[in-house]
Amino acid sequence: MRTSFIAGNWKMHKTVGEATALAKELVTALAKETCRIMIAPPFTALLEVSKIVKGTNIVLGAQNMAQEVQGAHTGEVSPVMLKDVGVTIVILGHSERRHVYGEKDELINKKVKLALSEGLEVILCVGEKIEERNAGNAEKVVEEQIKNGLKDISPQHMKNITIAYEPVWAIGTGVTATPEDADDMHAFIRKTITALYSPEIAETLIIQYGGSVKPNNAKELMAKANIDGALVGGAALTADQFVPIVQYDK
Ligand code: PGA
Repeated sequence: MRTSFIAGNWKMHKTVGEATALAKELVTALAKETCRIMIAPPFTALLEVSKIVKGTNIVLGAQNMAQEVQGAHTGEVSPVMLKDVGVTIVILGHSERRHVYGEKDELINKKVKLALSEGLEVILCVGEKIEERNAGNAEKVVEEQIKNGLKDISPQHMKNITIAYEPVWAIGTGVTATPEDADDMHAFIRKTITALYSPEIAETLIIQYGGSVKPNNAKELMAKANIDGALVGGAALTADQFVPIVQYDK
């Protein structure tokens, strides 16, 4: 049995004051929830938000991470620094990192390995662009991203990996994949993990869907056999929207 995992990616939104206010609202509103909940504020708000979620059922995530532990990497934030402020999980390979900031599978894989070796959990994001889907290549693209992203990751480390399937054309567009199409891709991801690792690892892997998840479509998506959670962007920015998504089954 897989425990649902709902994560909010706040992207480049919220000052420290705004972030702490939202974190406080969420801590109160979600105190009784039994699914797994994560919020990923911007780096500048991590420390203050960490103080608010400490000891609650909300875990603290980061949106990205450097590929090295320390050194001359202007503008980067290391896994050690993230752990220092209470982060336990990091989002890697988000489509905005891939397609706006040019991160390639090789770099993402380096970050995944480093995060795991530093004891952080990883949400590895994968997903095809619309041209790739229209050309019938969606599965091929996702398979490559998974194989390359998880290169040299041991079976033992797979318990610390969540995969988020986020079709690029659905992110921030208001267009969601149909629950059927999303479920098909999630089943394909599970098949890929079975081939790379084992049926047991594939069966326990949490696979989130991301891309315009809203209160009005979360239940339908989450009802699908292979959809175990959601990675939420825009709708994670207010308690009004994020709370009903976490409570999709109420
Ligand atoms: P969205 O973003 O919910 O605003 O589409 C999802 C994501 O990028 O993780």
